[in-house]
Amino acid sequence: MLDSFVFYLLTVHGKGDRTYFISDRSLSCRAKEGSMSISKAASSNADTITKRLQIEHLLAPTLSPDNLSDGSDVIAGLTQTPKSLPARYFYDDRGSQLFEQICELPEYYLTRTETAILQKCAIEIARITDICELVELGSGSSTKTRILLDAYHQLGFPLRYLPIDISAGILEISARQLLADYDSLQVHAIASTYELALQQLIPKKLPNRMICFIGSTLGNLNPSECDVFFSQIISALNSDEYFLLGIDLQKPKHLLEAAYNDSQGVTAAFNLNMLHHLNKRFEGNFDPTQFEHWAFYNETEHQIEMHLRSLLQQTVQLHTLDLTIQFEKSETILTEISRKFDLNTLQQDLSSQGLKPLQVWTDPNQWFGLLLCQLQPSA
Ligand code: TRP
Repeated sequence: MLDSFVFYLLTVHGKGDRTYFISDRSLSCRAKEGSMSISKAASSNADTITKRLQIEHLLAPTLSPDNLSDGSDVIAGLTQTPKSLPARYFYDDRGSQLFEQICELPEYYLTRTETAILQKCAIEIARITDICELVELGSGSSTKTRILLDAYHQLGFPLRYLPIDISAGILEISARQLLADYDSLQVHAIASTYELALQQLIPKKLPNRMICFIGSTLGNLNPSECDVFFSQIISALNSDEYFLLGIDLQKPKHLLEAAYNDSQGVTAAFNLNMLHHLNKRFEGNFDPTQFEHWAFYNETEHQIEMHLRSLLQQTVQLHTLDLTIQFEKSETILTEISRKFDLNTLQQDLSSQGLKPLQVWTDPNQWFGLLLCQLQPSA
């Protein structure tokens, strides 16, 4: 199927020019700031890349991240007290762009800190796991994965990568870029939800396998979702296979609150963009200027809670859902939680479920943690 595509090299000029190797089908997916120049890539290069790439679609072709849900989750969230909205509605094109900007904010230490830890310990991880294929949940642009691939490459190991992401567009762009940069890499990309992909993972082709879940996405699951998630990981792994987990750690309130209330207002724009997204998706009339971003650290629950707060009493409609919602002045909608972990407690938790932590790395401030776990044979 893929052979019929025309391949281009797309260069995005801006801070650190980046070149993406993409097909005409995915070209429209990448609306980035800055200017772009496009040139046809040598077809021989395109051939070897295509041979090393497989893309598996586990979602029906008509389902995109944008219409995965029929909106019943929005109705459920907005008709309960207190109101909430599923975090998935952050991510339309603009939402994904704003999220990339968040990761580079001076106050948002998470991405930088995790990257620095990975740079420090990637070789050690590769030595422990030996020859091993990488499965990544929510791979996005795969930027941090490159640090791991470099380490396996440095040790002369074969490279095989199975990125899983809900966005088929981003998956293909990132996979082709990786394949252009790593000659020996094989990619089996899976466009899917985590749940489905974990249930249907194909058998490994290298001697070992590691599932990577980095970026502290675990913190965006509540404790019961977290338990379900761990059981899905455990069923997807065979004994002695690995699980690499990146998590944000507990720290003073002012540092955490600054990270989710940046001075440039990018996180606020990201949060409010959810209302624009709902307007587009469900013919709504939310006026985002009548809401404000509100994020605070709940010290009892050890979590950042991100809300949208109504600035006045108002009524909003989402026409295609046939839904009318009343807001009191100062009433809030919960849009995201971001839990902050205690390393010891989490290690005990993982251990008790059979995922034994072999090694833990942190940064000098102990702000972020990376855990390499191994599934123990069940008794
Ligand atoms: N998991 C990261 C975190 O909790 C990234 C993230 C998810 C995020 N949702 C977010 C960051 C909402 C800011 C706002 O920080």
